[in-house]
Amino acid sequence: MKFSFNISSLAILFISSFSFSQNYEAKVDSLMKLMTLQEKIGQTVMYGGSWDQTGPIIGTNNGKYIREGNMGAMLNAFTVKGTYDLQKVAVEETRLGIPLLFGYDVIHGHRTIFPINLGMSASWDLKMIEESSRIAAEEASAEGLHWTFAPMVDIARDPRWGRVSEGAGEDVYLVSQIAKAYVKGFQGDDLSKHNTILACAKHFVGYGAAQAGRDYHTVNMDEGELRNVYLPPFKATVDVGVETFMSAFNELNGVPTSGNKFTLRDILQDEWGFKGFVVSDYTSINEMIPHGFAKDSLDAARIGMNTGVDMDMMGSVYRKYLKKLAEQGKVDETTINEACRRILLAKFKLGLFDDPYRYIDKKRETETKYKPEFLAKAREIAAASSVLLQNKDQVLPFSKSTKSIAFIGPMVKDEYDILGNWAAQGDRKGQAVSVFEGVSEYLKSHQMLYAKGCDILNDDESGFSEAINISKKADVIVLVMGEGHHMSGEAASRTNLKIPGIQPKLIETIREANPNKKIVLVLMNGRPINLSDEVNLVDSILEVWFPGTMGGAGVADVLFGTHNPSGKLTVTFPRNVGQVPIYYNMKNTGRPIPDNNPTEDYKSNYIDSPNSPLFVFGHGLSYTTFKYSDLELSSSTLRFTGEIKASATISNTGNRGGHEIVQLYIHDKVGSVTRPVKELKGFQKIFLKKGESKVVNFTITAEDLKFYNSEGNYTVEPGEFEIAITPSSDFKFKHTFTLE
Ligand code: NOJ
Repeated sequence: MKFSFNISSLAILFISSFSFSQNYEAKVDSLMKLMTLQEKIGQTVMYGGSWDQTGPIIGTNNGKYIREGNMGAMLNAFTVKGTYDLQKVAVEETRLGIPLLFGYDVIHGHRTIFPINLGMSASWDLKMIEESSRIAAEEASAEGLHWTFAPMVDIARDPRWGRVSEGAGEDVYLVSQIAKAYVKGFQGDDLSKHNTILACAKHFVGYGAAQAGRDYHTVNMDEGELRNVYLPPFKATVDVGVETFMSAFNELNGVPTSGNKFTLRDILQDEWGFKGFVVSDYTSINEMIPHGFAKDSLDAARIGMNTGVDMDMMGSVYRKYLKKLAEQGKVDETTINEACRRILLAKFKLGLFDDPYRYIDKKRETETKYKPEFLAKAREIAAASSVLLQNKDQVLPFSKSTKSIAFIGPMVKDEYDILGNWAAQGDRKGQAVSVFEGVSEYLKSHQMLYAKGCDILNDDESGFSEAINISKKADVIVLVMGEGHHMSGEAASRTNLKIPGIQPKLIETIREANPNKKIVLVLMNGRPINLSDEVNLVDSILEVWFPGTMGGAGVADVLFGTHNPSGKLTVTFPRNVGQVPIYYNMKNTGRPIPDNNPTEDYKSNYIDSPNSPLFVFGHGLSYTTFKYSDLELSSSTLRFTGEIKASATISNTGNRGGHEIVQLYIHDKVGSVTRPVKELKGFQKIFLKKGESKVVNFTITAEDLKFYNSEGNYTVEPGEFEIAITPSSDFKFKHTFTLE
């Protein structure tokens, strides 16, 4: 069914005067000439529908606000039926008939859910990640959505922070590359197509650096760290044309980021030339009051608009106060005009003025969700995102002829948590493939034993005896455990990084009952987990994150070797929470620990823990083995305008084909500001058949070595650099070149 529409005569007049022209700026100008100040303000207002809840409940009067022209966008409203009814009011019952913009958190899929973003990042597969967001856009747009609040491109270096699950990890270079892939997938090459949606780079900025890993908490950092670490992924999205930004909840160096002139005006608009619009996070403009930055709601609206937050999400302060502020001369009308312009421009680009119902098509809605090819891709990505952390005695992969396997744990048959946090409209009741179901493709029922053992969180041990019982009957034991999906994501910070509840006790109990049996731990979680005890209790650990709709099938493919794992960590796994924050590219300190004496006194170490993490950034095993030959450089000197090539031969020395993620690291030895001990500067994911070797080449130019110095200049300094091509971040440099 296609809907016909009946747009207001005023709007028809102005639209037809530009038919076939793509000059959106002129169209916006022309439309804005017809608009009253209140109507312009209306475009800057967003409220939520009731199809989902993604923040505190706030009563709104959507129908009334739309009719009055006091609302330009909605979140949490989708489906053809829902968006049609609302759009019809905007188009037919308002003076100008300006269509609404529908946005939603389509974070790692809309109906077909892919692994959580931290999981997908572990694939280091930019093409796959772009495909995931393309599919998400197909499904979301088929339900009337025009806009996703994704990707989250916050650097996250604190596993206590629940939102580490929503990003691509701790590294600046990798997060930036992945950010671009998401944006390209969502926005496609032409926004006016009905299957492309606006992307939104969030949360601008520094949100991931919340003190103590507590969500929404204070952020303090110097400008060097802001520019060298936290801003680049945002800049990367601007470079590929991201249409929208979301300002964050946190304050940054004393100024809330939803009222931060330095980041929103000076950097985003003036330095980067961003032409899209900025939406606040959910009531983040109002939250400048408890931050102690705005006196009251009127003041908050003034600051938000004046600093470049173009749209107010759920806060009501723009709707209520902008007109008054304009009348009082506290907000210039040109500022409101500019915000309105940016929002209308996005609506034009989406083609909403050509057809406000372009995205609302019943046939497409029915045909698009859970397409077989989407599910196949979700399965492939679930497998590619899995990280084999440990595999003693090559317990994995299993063979189909294994006599019996005991599957134990609260997540073996789970079809609910497996989708992870922010799973949009993923069906948690029946659509997702559990690990048990996935494995049953490989094993006959008499080979599979099952006991839940315990819940994720409560302390009821009554299931232990059954679990022990079946564990004794089986050849091998697979424990499927982890966090509940609500234990990561927004407002889900933890101070304890262990596997929650009594699951660790169950692991110990199963090991005691089976001292010589092989045990595999399959882990679902949204953050780095402290596995210091488990590494000694089990033989293999497969980190599958929350793997999504086809998660169980993808995990089974890895367990049985149909898919050889190649995922590598994009975030460091600490030994204990006391090491946090811990990430691979820290600074050296003036008293680094000597290699040959890590506990030496008066050095930068702990008296009760090694400095090193349990699993490093970039770590991940395969069912085959790879050998790296020594790196070769085309020259030991790099000229400022030249380039050098670094190459290494990688050989598959094991018994099966596999993918390997080859990583390039560089260390700037001396700088006018100190530089990290190593920095990822490139990577390639290659496939090698058994016995095959490939030469992997990287080109390095001075541009790759730039950083913001203490004067705030983006520059490169001559001197010596160390370089390595390696399988993970755990290595010592052996080669150098000089920039001159
Ligand atoms: C708050 C979250 O911080 C943000 O990421 C999300 O997009 C909005 N709520 C809307 O749901």
